[in-house]
This record gives sequence, structure tokens and C-alpha cells, in this order.
Amino acid sequence: MAVDVLLGLQWGDEGKGKIVDVLTRNYDIIARFQGGPNAGHTLEFDGIKHVLHTIPSGIFHPGAQNVIGNGVVIDPVIFQGEIEKLESFRLNINEVLLISRKAHLILPSHRLLDAASEAAKGKNKIGSTLKGIGPTYMDKTGRNGLRVGDIELDDFQERYDSLLNKHKQILSHYEEYEAYLTKLEELEPAWFAAVERLRGMTLIDSEHMINQSLKAGKSILAEGAQGSLLDIDFGSYPFVTSSTTTCAGSCTGLGIAPNRIQKVYGIFKAYCTRVGSGPFPTELEDETGEALRAKGHEFGATTGRPRRCGWLDLPALKYAIEINGVTDLIMMKSDVLSGFSTIKVCTGYRYKGTVIDYLPYNIENDLVEPIYTELAGWQDDLTGLDNFETAPQALKDYVAFVQEQTGVPITIVSVGPDRNQTIHLAAQNVSA
Ligand code: IMP
Repeated sequence: MAVDVLLGLQWGDEGKGKIVDVLTRNYDIIARFQGGPNAGHTLEFDGIKHVLHTIPSGIFHPGAQNVIGNGVVIDPVIFQGEIEKLESFRLNINEVLLISRKAHLILPSHRLLDAASEAAKGKNKIGSTLKGIGPTYMDKTGRNGLRVGDIELDDFQERYDSLLNKHKQILSHYEEYEAYLTKLEELEPAWFAAVERLRGMTLIDSEHMINQSLKAGKSILAEGAQGSLLDIDFGSYPFVTSSTTTCAGSCTGLGIAPNRIQKVYGIFKAYCTRVGSGPFPTELEDETGEALRAKGHEFGATTGRPRRCGWLDLPALKYAIEINGVTDLIMMKSDVLSGFSTIKVCTGYRYKGTVIDYLPYNIENDLVEPIYTELAGWQDDLTGLDNFETAPQALKDYVAFVQEQTGVPITIVSVGPDRNQTIHLAAQNVSA
């Protein structure tokens, strides 16, 4: 069988958790392939809201297996906290949640390095979630990292000590070194206790398991985290995360061959948001931006930080569609756009004296000026909509406009956070 990939096309927070949860019934295995506790995937059903950071969003579906792939980085403390929150669901965690031995571990000192590096950057800071993501991936590519499989080895403690010593050397260059050492002492006991619990969980050679499952005819959904514009290569560097958030990351983060990939679901919000620093051409620093933030509850699921809001950026969306080979678009938070008399969509930029319709190397706000097309808004509340036929004409026109501009069909329109507020559209005939 094949692998389908689901990923975010903007700067994260597109609503991947909800859609994975909605699509799970079609798949035997849900697998996370990159990122770590910087992600916050929100699922809502039966009036309860769940936020998952490391655990795949298929966890609530009976029968689905959930794999944390080798491309993921795990903070054992945060991970155990997530598992404890699942206790009331009486899941047999050791059966439904499988963890790659090749996933890397976030150490307490990685978090301190993240904090130290961000503080030193001053006004150029990335706006990291401070979960230790960057330093952990740096140790991975620097060939110093600790992996989940190492906790099964007799010399795990020595390996830990050796890496910690490297980290201490780096931290000693910062003024707050003593404070970091004190913090480390505070964090370590909980970390080792969580590692002990991790040892009792189902640790697997995930690339083998995934490929065997494919041979056995099982279907797999690869769940991305963050968004394409935060990708380490293709995002708005250096204001990005440290992993491959694009489709290629599902191959390296799970050990699947590219020719196994069938559908690529690309999720985008009907507008745009960004949390943390970095360029954002269509950002609205006015009352319209405020209205989007208030109406869309645009505050980070992991950090609670207010998200920056702006209009939909089509050159950026088309770029993400191209890099990922998106076959199906999924439009989220359409309900948030209700109530605007007109809605703007960026279709190009004024850049160095010319007009372009693609994303240039540098998208700093003072270099690119968005060019907007104005579309009619709609006033109707969409949260009870269950059939696209009865949708307001202006919403239908908005969907048609995005499809026509991108050349990719929109197959799902989401009109609220609950599983049930999801409208499946018949695949439209859109020429690429
Ligand atoms: P880091 O991945 O924590 O190092 O953060 C790097 C950048 O990516 C920061 O601007 C974060 O705000 C952003 N970021 C990381 N994870 C997410 C996410 O899941 N959603 C949205 N933004 C994220």
C-alpha cells in the first residue's frame, strides 16, 4: 500500500491535528516524521479539547497504530505528561504508540542552550518555542546526539555525561552560566524519571516496521508538524525551525521511499498567521489583524503567544504547493472570515521595481509589497454549515478563486474546531 502525507503549507498552526483526526479512519498507521514538542496539534470532539505535542493525532481512533518516527525529537518529560493526559481514555499505550529507536532525545541542557542562544540574539531572536529543538537537531547533524535506542544501552549514563559536558562548555561562555547550572539540577531528576518510563514503552526499529506494514498492505498517513514556510531549507531562513517540514521530510523521517507517496494533503488557513519572528508580507498590524486574532483565537497552542495575522498569501501558498507536490488542498478556519465586507488575497508582490507572482529569496517586509485582489466577503455564520451546496456564494467564489490560482482542488473546507465541522467537497476538475 501507499503512504499519504499531510502537512501545513504556511507558518504552522494550520489545523493539522484536527484533519489528521478526521482522516484517521482511512488509515491503519499514523506516523509523525519531524519536529517535537514545539508542535501543538489540537483536536476537539465530544466537547473536549486535546493538545498533542509529540504523540501522533491518530491516538484517539480505535484500531490505529501511532508511530513516532526517527525524524522526531522527544523530550521525555513533555512526552510523559502527554501520556498521563491520555490515561482516562484507557488506551493500551504500549500497543497503539510505537517509538522509533532512532528518534533523538532532547536533554535538559538542550533547552538551556536554546534559551541562551535566543537571549544572546537580542532583537534578532528567532522567537523559538524554547523546547530545545534547534540544539537537539544541531547535535543530530553534528553527530553528537543521544537517541531513544541509547537508553537501552549499558553505557547510557556515560553517553549522557559526555554530551552534557560538551553542553556545559558551550554554556560557560554565557554570563548566566551559574543560573543555567542551577536550572539543570532542577530539571534533571524529572528527566531521568521520564527516561525510565520511556524504557518501559514500545521502542521499535520504525523504518523496518513501516516498510513491513506497507508490504502487508497497510495504509499510512504521515503527519507533518509546523509548516512549509518554517522548513529548514525552504522556509524564511533563519526564522525557521530546524527540521524538514516539507514532504521530503516524510521520507527521511520515517524511512519510506519517495515512490511510496501517493496523496499529499496540503493544509492552509483561509488567511495567514505566524508566531515568532521573521518576515510576513501580508501581516496586518491594524484592527483587521486584531479582528482575525480575536475571532480565530490565534494564540499559540504550545506557548500561548499571540499569533501575527494577515491575509492569504497566494505566491507563498503556490511555492509550498510546488515544493510538496500537493494533490489535495484543505482550507481551514473559513468561519473566521465571516463578517468582513471584503476579503483581500495577495496575488503578487511589488519587488525591486517590478511585479512578481512568486516568492523571492528575500521576503523582508520592506522589500516586498503585497498586491491584493479584493473579493466579496460573506456575513453568514458558517459554524453550522454541513453542506457546501448551501454555503454563501461569496465563500464558493473564494474557494473557486484559490483553486483557480493554485491549480489544485480544495477537497475539505473546515468551518470550526470540532471534528463534525468539516465539509468534504467532491474533487473539482481543476487543471494544474
Ligand atoms: P523552534 O522550532 O521552537 O526552534 O522555533 C522556531 C520558529 O518556528 C519560531 O518562530 C516558532 O514560533 C516557530 N514554530 C515552531 N513550532 C511551531 C509550531 O508548531 N507552530 C507554529 N510555529 C512554530
